[in-house]
Amino acid sequence: MSPVALADISKTSLQRWSTGIAEFDFVLGGGLVPGSLVLIGGEPGIGKSTILLQAAARLEAGGRRTLYASGEESPEQVRLRADRLRENAGPVLVLGETRLESVLDAARSVGAQVLIVDSIQTAYTDSLEGAPGSVGQVRESASHLMRFAKETGIATIVVGHVTKGGNIAGPKTLEHIVDTVLYFEGEPTMDYRLLRATKNRFGSVDELGVFTMTGQGLDPVANPSAVFLGSRAAGTVGSAVTALMEGSRPVLVEVQALAAPSGYGTPQRVAAGIDPKRLAVLLAVLEMRAGERFAQRDVFVQVAGGLKLTEPAADLAVAAALLSSLHNRPTPPDAIYLGELGLGGEVRPIAGLDRRLGEAGRLGFRRVIASDRGAARVAGLTHLGLSAISDLAGTLAA
Ligand code: TYD
Ligand code: MG
Repeated sequence: MSPVALADISKTSLQRWSTGIAEFDFVLGGGLVPGSLVLIGGEPGIGKSTILLQAAARLEAGGRRTLYASGEESPEQVRLRADRLRENAGPVLVLGETRLESVLDAARSVGAQVLIVDSIQTAYTDSLEGAPGSVGQVRESASHLMRFAKETGIATIVVGHVTKGGNIAGPKTLEHIVDTVLYFEGEPTMDYRLLRATKNRFGSVDELGVFTMTGQGLDPVANPSAVFLGSRAAGTVGSAVTALMEGSRPVLVEVQALAAPSGYGTPQRVAAGIDPKRLAVLLAVLEMRAGERFAQRDVFVQVAGGLKLTEPAADLAVAAALLSSLHNRPTPPDAIYLGELGLGGEVRPIAGLDRRLGEAGRLGFRRVIASDRGAARVAGLTHLGLSAISDLAGTLAA
């Protein structure tokens, strides 16, 4: 083979196979790419096997031969799960096998276009000594699957379990081997599940798919913002709404804060869904730039729905929720907060404002509280511009 100029390489259009589940396709970047290897990670019980069985049923219905190799559960157990689903998984081929070579032979001989391996921790390959689930076996099996997918053009999906502490003993070491990494997350106490891509050679990362777990499998949620705001009661003290960009999608979330008088000793700062260090910065800015006193307060901040505030655009909403709790005054129920806070207490404009406001307007928000720089213009929304954090308390309702 001799090197060629990029311009002379033909752009064979990238093929995509729909899984039949729109939210799943969306997170994949438009569907399964033939010959790709996708890792789907998540804690046990989150619903990995369920969504893959649903996808398998829909792929089969769409005429794509699909083999579901289950090392985790017996074919009988898979059948029991299939019976619960709304989809007809009847035609899906199932194989109760953990030896990788046998699985791959079977995939070839049945002419599978899609292969699902559930899970990588139960698979083992002959080419290496060691028990299934050991780091060596997991890595070798993944490399083997990657070669297989590339050689055969079979779209391959492999399940990887993540341990409770977020430490991904198996999958973490696999991330650089596979083409695409999806994570399935969710709070065990909540019915909804978040599917997101953290690596994607065939699409953008950080796209978010939202599902609810029902008695008949996972249902896509068409309007995630409505879910995340669903339990929000108007007029609640210590609550503020912001819009996060989850990949290309704006999603509205509620930030909750509680600033309670602390007892003796160092006041507590407890943060869920927000980096504790960012919370410390915001508290310091409120203290120094707005004269708001949190020194004698235990501070608790959380984000409803299990989402994470990774963007500085959420700063203003966190500060508003904190002030609302401190002053015991609610934020206006139709207001959305969007702004980054600088150490000088200045309120900065944020990226993607129009998209976020579009979503807010659609869900009935009428006021946007943001930086006074960069006017927010979305029909039906009134822009309240702040230059400094010291103006924030004035936006709270009486
Ligand atoms: P599962 O897909 O087995 O999780 P994983 O493969 O990630 O370990 O999901 C198991 C949980 O989902 C289990 O608690 C039962 C529940 N479930 C439902 O609530 N409804 C359903 O229709 C199905 C199939 C499972
Ligand atoms: Mg499973």
